[in-house]
Amino acid sequence: MRLVVHRSQRDVAHAVAQRLVAELEGRPSLVLGLATGRTPIPIYQRLSALAGQGRVDFTRAATFNLDEFWRLPAEHPGSYRAFMARHLFGHVRIPPARIHFLDGMARDAAEECARYERAIAAAGGIDVQILGIGANGHIGFNEPAVALQARTHLATLKPQTRRANATFFGDDATAVPEQALSMGMATILQARSVVLIATGRGKGRAVERMVNGPLTTRLPASFLQVHHDVEVVLDEAAAERLTSAQRGRA
Ligand code: F6R
Repeated sequence: MRLVVHRSQRDVAHAVAQRLVAELEGRPSLVLGLATGRTPIPIYQRLSALAGQGRVDFTRAATFNLDEFWRLPAEHPGSYRAFMARHLFGHVRIPPARIHFLDGMARDAAEECARYERAIAAAGGIDVQILGIGANGHIGFNEPAVALQARTHLATLKPQTRRANATFFGDDATAVPEQALSMGMATILQARSVVLIATGRGKGRAVERMVNGPLTTRLPASFLQVHHDVEVVLDEAAAERLTSAQRGRA
């Protein structure tokens, strides 16, 4: 894992956006894995601004979002499809056919998950996967458990995760769907490179365990230790619990 620590959340966003701009310049048909949540919003804002200035081109790229709520219509403001439209896809020129989501309204969850795995493979696999991390160490909706799912699957959300997603459900955690479709651990680990972003003190403990702790299903992000190309981009608050040598690698 390469650790990069920036002074602020804004610096994190600029650095990650810059990396994506460079990746897209090098490979215009880049296949991106994308996350929702609060952490990547400043990155998407930065990319949207750069797109407005003609400084980044998504027209040949393809995207696959990590997850989507189960049984929530795409039009609902809390859906991840709606989130991505608000924060990125509404602001950059990318052909709709190149934007991929799990369909939370699909008839059959297992079939939908298999379809998504096939679509990722047909696109040639994910080149760069952007990840956030839950305060409990989840990635995607792979929550801490005795066993993790390898492939895209229907996941049950922890109460803590539903609370963290309550914003577009009238701040009512009980209104957040209990289940979501999510890429699995192997789906994520198959990406050619991974960029995990964490900002704020609330992520400090999970980041420390992900980097220094044992590999455990109790902290799904710890599995990133076995991936050969992971960049962990942190602000100082999220890096607080790392050793000074680790923080100094920025
Ligand atoms: C979102 C996702 C989640 C989030 C994580 C952190 O697509 O897969 O794993 O990355 O819950 O969320 P934030 O950034 O809101 O703290």
